[in-house]
Amino acid sequence: MYSAEFQKSLHEVEAAREANIAYEPARMSAEDKERLLEAYHPDYKKTEFEKLQFGPNKGDVVPRELCEILQAHSRITADQIDLNDVRYDVDVLIIGGGGAGASAAIEADRAGASTMIVTKLRIGDANTMMAEGGIQAADKPNDSPAIHFLDAFGGGHFAAKRELLAKLVCDAPEAIQWLNELGVEFDKTSDGTMITTHGGGTSRKRMHAAKDYSGAEIMRTLRDEVLNRGINVVDFTAAIELILDDKGNAAGAVLMNMETKELMVARAKTVIIATGGAGRMHYQGFPTSNHYGATADGLVLGYRVGAKLLYADTLQYHPTGAAYPSQIFGALVTEKVRSLGAKLVNSEGRVFMHPLETRDVAAASIIRECSDRDKGIDTGNGKAVWLDTPMIERIGGEGTIERRIPAMMRMFANYGIDIRKEPILVYPTLHYQNGGLDINADGMTPNVENLFVAGEAVGGIHGRNRLMGNSLLDIIVFGRNAGKNAAAKSRNIEMGMLTLDHIAAFDAEREKAGVKTSAVSPRLLPDYTNRHERT
Ligand code: FUM
Repeated sequence: MYSAEFQKSLHEVEAAREANIAYEPARMSAEDKERLLEAYHPDYKKTEFEKLQFGPNKGDVVPRELCEILQAHSRITADQIDLNDVRYDVDVLIIGGGGAGASAAIEADRAGASTMIVTKLRIGDANTMMAEGGIQAADKPNDSPAIHFLDAFGGGHFAAKRELLAKLVCDAPEAIQWLNELGVEFDKTSDGTMITTHGGGTSRKRMHAAKDYSGAEIMRTLRDEVLNRGINVVDFTAAIELILDDKGNAAGAVLMNMETKELMVARAKTVIIATGGAGRMHYQGFPTSNHYGATADGLVLGYRVGAKLLYADTLQYHPTGAAYPSQIFGALVTEKVRSLGAKLVNSEGRVFMHPLETRDVAAASIIRECSDRDKGIDTGNGKAVWLDTPMIERIGGEGTIERRIPAMMRMFANYGIDIRKEPILVYPTLHYQNGGLDINADGMTPNVENLFVAGEAVGGIHGRNRLMGNSLLDIIVFGRNAGKNAAAKSRNIEMGMLTLDHIAAFDAEREKAGVKTSAVSPRLLPDYTNRHERT
């Protein structure tokens, strides 16, 4: 279905296919990778980062767009809110209705805590729902949590907080069992054995999947469990400011109805931020694979009350975002496509990297191919490289694509591209926020008591780059962990008087630092009316 301008390159890809299937390029040395990342990865583009002038991370650099919302004004002033007029009063308030929030709610409820989820859209409208490739767990005889740890620690540039990563990998097999028992339909062989595959940076096949809609299947199951348990879910209502008590501990949130803009007070003994990622901030003008609500809200809420960020300067650009046609620009093309055998090739049909490189290295390789090497294909919307999907059928046999990645097949078929017969065009897309709020192994922030964080809003679990399948895992492991610990902690909390004094204190800090801004945050939804495209 590709038009004439793609044909010459397409013929070269087809002509080279058989040789490319057999060809395995060498892995890059650590030094080569570092040089590549410095030259081509967006995280290394210094002009796109700014130093925070005040707040808990004063002096640290973060993406320019994030700097703006972290230093912005609150949506409210304290005198707008009557803190005695309490609409909701709970043990555990969970902000965010994705996989981490739902997992936390299930465990908090199971522990007997009065629990409420508040979400600015609907429960399940979240990045979890959009995850495709799978969830890692070392539960096969040739694997172990220790090997899983080494893969993830190396892939994250040896920067992960060890206690968090250790918890992630050690709790992984149980997380898979938990999901399996809740009803997730994992891919299995006829005798019930879980099918597992590789992902970038994995030394063992430990990716468990539900075809190529693993996140939707997991979110469906978690949402059912939350609703079946009768947990209170308040949809279309955003948390726009945290409330502290007079001891400086987290004690609830100011909520805003997204339609009517009505403001309400939720008092809570413990608060769990599970607001997800930041793809809709479109850092550096990148398209995104993320959900519409991914605007870094939790980072703003936490930062304003004194919670520290960790690695907020590092983002993940998924190597294979759809680059053509424009209707699906930036949509995720799961890494599973590559783990099933499709290779990345340039405009001349040449394989330019090892298929199992980590995501940051793969993304930087594609950017190099499309820039300095001038071996990209012009899509009319920027450059791209080919992902040679017909290789999958050649390697795995006819029917493999339909069986293993049916959602991907349908997405492209909607635009007349049959991925069983034709390759697809891809380019990196903003996919994941590696950094976020700092937590201890119990899920609580070290400097704001009773404030917990789970899921993509956490920084430090994966270090400075995350491996595929470790995010669906972390929302389950750290969501459940936060829910259990918040519920347990809430049993012994004597709350003080509620206050919003931190808003004025933050304003004073901004003034003192000489920062002038009219920005207001959290942003809640992306503003596409004012979006200027960058070249
Ligand atoms: O490529 C993917 O399917 C994405 C998975 C992930 O980010 O973990």
